Amino acid sequence: MARKAVAKDDEIFALRLARSAPDLWPMLERLYGHRAEYPAFRDRLLTALRTAWADRPKDLRRLDLQRDLEPDWFQRPDRVGYVFYIDRFAGDLRKVLDKLDYLEDLGVSYVHLMPCLKPRPGDSDGGYSVMDYRAVNPAYGTMEDLESVATALRARGMNLCVDLVLNHTAKEHDWAERARAGDPTYQDYYLMFDSDTEPKRFEETLVEVFPDNAPGNFTYYPDFGKWVWTTFNEHQWDLNWANPQVFLEITEIMLFLANRGVDVLRLDAVAFMWKRLGTRCQSEPEVHMLLQALRACCRIACPAVLHLEEAIVAPAEMLPYFGRGAHDGKEGNLAYHNSLMVQFWNALATRDTRMMTHVMQTHFPPVLTNATYATYIRCHDDIGWAVTDEDAAVFGISGPGHRAYLADFYEGRFPGSFARGALFQENPATGDKRISGSFASLAGLEKALSEGDAGAAEQAVQRVLLGHALIAGFGGIPLIYMGDELATLNDYSYRDRPDHAHDSRWLHRPMMDWALAATRHSADTPAARCFRGVRHILARRKAVAELHGGVPTEILSAPIPGLFIAARHAPTHNLLGIYNFSEGWSHLPADWLRAQGITRFHDELSEAAVALHDGHIALPPQARLWLV
Ligand code: GLC
Repeated sequence: MARKAVAKDDEIFALRLARSAPDLWPMLERLYGHRAEYPAFRDRLLTALRTAWADRPKDLRRLDLQRDLEPDWFQRPDRVGYVFYIDRFAGDLRKVLDKLDYLEDLGVSYVHLMPCLKPRPGDSDGGYSVMDYRAVNPAYGTMEDLESVATALRARGMNLCVDLVLNHTAKEHDWAERARAGDPTYQDYYLMFDSDTEPKRFEETLVEVFPDNAPGNFTYYPDFGKWVWTTFNEHQWDLNWANPQVFLEITEIMLFLANRGVDVLRLDAVAFMWKRLGTRCQSEPEVHMLLQALRACCRIACPAVLHLEEAIVAPAEMLPYFGRGAHDGKEGNLAYHNSLMVQFWNALATRDTRMMTHVMQTHFPPVLTNATYATYIRCHDDIGWAVTDEDAAVFGISGPGHRAYLADFYEGRFPGSFARGALFQENPATGDKRISGSFASLAGLEKALSEGDAGAAEQAVQRVLLGHALIAGFGGIPLIYMGDELATLNDYSYRDRPDHAHDSRWLHRPMMDWALAATRHSADTPAARCFRGVRHILARRKAVAELHGGVPTEILSAPIPGLFIAARHAPTHNLLGIYNFSEGWSHLPADWLRAQGITRFHDELSEAAVALHDGHIALPPQARLWLV
């Protein structure tokens, strides 16, 4: 007799609510339980979750089910990300559809459309100053266009990532305009002060994010007589997450975007979400409670959707964004591995991997729960030299001195440097100097080409491929930043645009060169060689099961200071990712490799056997091997 065994949609919701309720309510209770409106807030949040689930399209509900059954889907080696600005890459959202063949050809299966929601007019911090979270930037198209892109990507087995800015809105957002007009309900959405007494007390311990062009963390508005918390630019007003209404509004927006077909939400600038007097107001414990609660909301109403947390902070401070202690496995599914990125550049400049090895061994565990890294070498932002004084001291060098050296090296001023970059937000008070520049220009290609040095150009391409092999093999989703696969150089034209000239990050946000891309399979140019190299790395990544994000990564102390070696301990066998940062040949003893469980001496990256010479394997400069 046929049984009626199919779970009904409301039963599925009830099960998911029961699963994640213990992750949600205790957090909210601690954050908001003391407020009179808490019971009403709780009811409204539950209604929002139910409504979002009721509105969730059928195909996305199916995806929810599939990903509940395959929770490691995003850790598999077939995930490869690509990050771009819609206008600079394709023109608009519809034209993105024409570029999917290119991305598929490269091996991409995950696409991050840089900020695409409606920004304020004029300078919008590259789109991170959002005035309407429910509308797409009209220059890129409509919400329907975004949904079409999501559907087209899904049909190709690709994922869509979009930004959700949590820390602030544009001052032109409807909430901000109402606040400005004097509505106390909306003034409580932000952090506003009648005098500068409190702001001054906070400033004593705050740092400046944009000291150059947006000094200070507060802005005074004479028209309504208030000081407003503005961590980033003046036009970006920090939200007051101590107000439960803000949590509710943002959750509704999050679920709205989820139901448009977004797979990954990149939660922007999360470290800043909670303020506490006497602190830097970064990574406060409440931030992790908020992020766990937001995660739980998605797990209830749209479990297919993941959270990528953007917290560009010191190594020890970064890990909690994956959930540590009580939050373990309940917070971000993805977070940027900023330290790996910084240490890549550090090792490239010094030709010495010892600090990189130390930092990775000391601060990062071999596995994460329900999570994996977003690994990258370049992104749309500057590089901040996040080398701590303590980590520098281990090698007997000064933190400030080493950070200044890295800035000078990548600005291109340090004697013998191969790099061409630009300073970003130099802070004379702290000595902090951040750097902008494209992967290829920072890796030496721009200088080599300008000097007509073909050998140096080839070496620069090899450095770019070394970086891409590292992020593809380390463990996590590698994110390729637009144009880096073609070794794109710095674009100095931003200096002629009044709304960009103050922000050197535009140096590495060029227009995609499609004429160059068209030569990728045939030309013998640095760009085409780079493309083919990256494409090969990504294809091999997909074929090598040991590179699954759930496979533990153990960083070995290499017997030679120019090598970085990441062991992946898979149940089948060990794989050693070996990366040569020295500019000369390195010879690694076979016995040392055997002691690490290497038996076959087969390189999965080149798909070739590795010959032994006098009991050693020989590694040319910038060599990368995935040895089994
Ligand atoms: C993030 C973005 C950066 C932006 C900032 C403020 O760090 O990556 O581009 O300036 O947030 O929204």
